Amino acid sequence: MLAQIHNLSFEDDEAQKWDAETFEELFKIKGTEGYLLEKDAQPLGFILFRHLYDEAEIITFCILPRWCNNGYATFLLKTIIKSLEQKAVKRVFLEVRENNNAAIGLYHKCSFKQIGRREGYYNSSPGNKIDALVMQLELSN
Ligand SMILES: CC(C)(COP(=O)(O)OP(=O)(O)OC[C@H]1O[C@@H](n2cnc3c(N)ncnc32)[C@H](O)[C@@H]1OP(=O)(O)O)[C@@H](O)C(=O)NCCC(=O)NCCS
Repeated sequence: MLAQIHNLSFEDDEAQKWDAETFEELFKIKGTEGYLLEKDAQPLGFILFRHLYDEAEIITFCILPRWCNNGYATFLLKTIIKSLEQKAVKRVFLEVRENNNAAIGLYHKCSFKQIGRREGYYNSSPGNKIDALVMQLELSN
């Protein structure tokens, strides 16, 4: 189910189409956790992150297109941030495509700051590379 939601959410980006095995492998890595958001028992989206010691990294995050712009991503992100704060996490990191305005807007709204850039980090269409912005949120615990 995660692969299905992910692929529908990243419909315009072939490189982001992950299969079920990819998710199975991710969950085998120590510290990997996920929250699935549902409404009336229907999945709306999910967030996957890794928590090790006092740091956490967001691995992937998506809301199904038909549910976007309703504040669900903000709710989900703030929920995991609160949970990580309670676990004494000090910093949350993520990488995002520099042209993903919706996600960058969301992360700024939730107080993430850009701390770096990885040139050509993502493969988009063949021969087309996109930079990753590295963002961080410092938690106040
Ligand atoms: C990015 C994503 C998770 C946002 O989900 P969402 O539920 O629509 O987000 P919200 O409704 O909570 O919006 C939160 C903020 O994000 C920003 N945002 C959302 N959609 C936007 C858009 N199309 N353009 C610009 N900013 C946008 C805004 O700052 C918005 O705050 P506002 O409503 O106060 O203006 C969703 O668009 C998505 O799943 N996209 C495809 C997958 C993806 O790119 N994931 C992130 C990978 S790093």
